[in-house]
Amino acid sequence: MSLLEVRGLKVHFPIKKGIVLDRTVGQVRAVDGVDLSVEKGRTLGVVGESGCGKSTLGRAVLQLEPITAGTVVFDGEDLSRLRGSALRAMRRRMQMVFQDPLASLDPRQSVASVLAEPLRTHGVKGPYEKRVRELLDLVGLPGSAANRFPHEFSGGQRQRIGIARAIALNPELIIADEPVSALDVSIQAQVVNLLEELQERLGLTYLVIAHDLAVVRHISDDVAVMYLGSVVEIARADELYARPLHPYTIALLSAIPIPDPEVEDRRERVLLTGELPSAANPPPGCRFHSRCPFRQPTRCADEVPALRVLEGFPGSQVACHFAEQIAARELKPVHAEAAEPAATAHGTDTPPDSRRSSAGSPS
Ligand SMILES: Nc1ncnc2c1ncn2[C@@H]1O[C@H](COP(=O)(O)OP(=O)(O)OP(=O)(O)O)[C@@H](O)[C@H]1O
Ligand code: SF4
Ligand SMILES: [Mg+2]
Repeated sequence: MSLLEVRGLKVHFPIKKGIVLDRTVGQVRAVDGVDLSVEKGRTLGVVGESGCGKSTLGRAVLQLEPITAGTVVFDGEDLSRLRGSALRAMRRRMQMVFQDPLASLDPRQSVASVLAEPLRTHGVKGPYEKRVRELLDLVGLPGSAANRFPHEFSGGQRQRIGIARAIALNPELIIADEPVSALDVSIQAQVVNLLEELQERLGLTYLVIAHDLAVVRHISDDVAVMYLGSVVEIARADELYARPLHPYTIALLSAIPIPDPEVEDRRERVLLTGELPSAANPPPGCRFHSRCPFRQPTRCADEVPALRVLEGFPGSQVACHFAEQIAARELKPVHAEAAEPAATAHGTDTPPDSRRSSAGSPS
């Protein structure tokens, strides 16, 4: 069974106008019908452009944002039905790691106090020194760090403190919202490795949010790609990177350079055109149609594509009316920077159909 099941999740924020009457004149559809699940001990990466609703999704899972519609089921319990002490008990089992460790750590609190705080808040009896030392050791910091203050540490060390705080209560699920985006590239891998090590040692389940496909690639078992509040593709990470099926995923991957110069030279670029539309006024039909290089004259602009499993691709779900034809290369992107005729649009020299043989189940 999945540890986390999200079904039809919507989070809409009212747009208010007027000082006296404070009328609601519209809705920002930050999350607009997300379905996903994460198995125990696995990692789901969630990627997408800035403003597509990743953080709102993470916060809504933890019930830190009011849910407009849909359900979040954690370990069999529908969280939206829980109140008071039952919700607090569930929250203890789910923790968050934030993007900017400095902003999320109180500069006046020593590290010992930062790490003891969740224990104190959830009624764990002190003294806390032993647990603080254990936590520091788990995240690779010396015991002497306990008496120092957040500003005395480097960005990577501060994120280690943020992670130690998140695991203080022995949670089962960690939602890491852009956990390495504020760090130097050289430090990012160390923090990602630490998250992986902790997952193994403590049996953690992760939902890792990033705007960068490269960051979630190594840590994720499965990846969900979000566009304007909904999931457009969800697949096993290795399959998604090798054979993206949704035009948005194809375009995102097309923007990432491939280390092999021969493949890099031969491949065809699939470019995204136009601005990301506003979540207050998303395009009708397929939300991606205003920027889609594979857009067709029928269906795209007036029929919402459902997230579905394609025949022959059991490990993936994709929300595109024409995914089969795109995978079979019967449809070609417009605006593509054509390279040599033999080049592929998928960043490798294996045709998209070769993924048909790979099995797996959506997470
Ligand atoms: N409290 C709020 N009130 C109104 N609109 C909000 C609120 N929080 C987020 N939004 C809007 O909801 C949409 C999704 O925001 P969100 O922060 O979830 O995106 P994101 O994918 O995390 O972006 P980023 O990569 O920049 O962090 C955006 O249009 C944002 O402006
Ligand atoms: S449904 Fe149409 S517009 Fe949407 S991704 Fe598929 S081809 Fe593009
Ligand atoms: Mg965000």
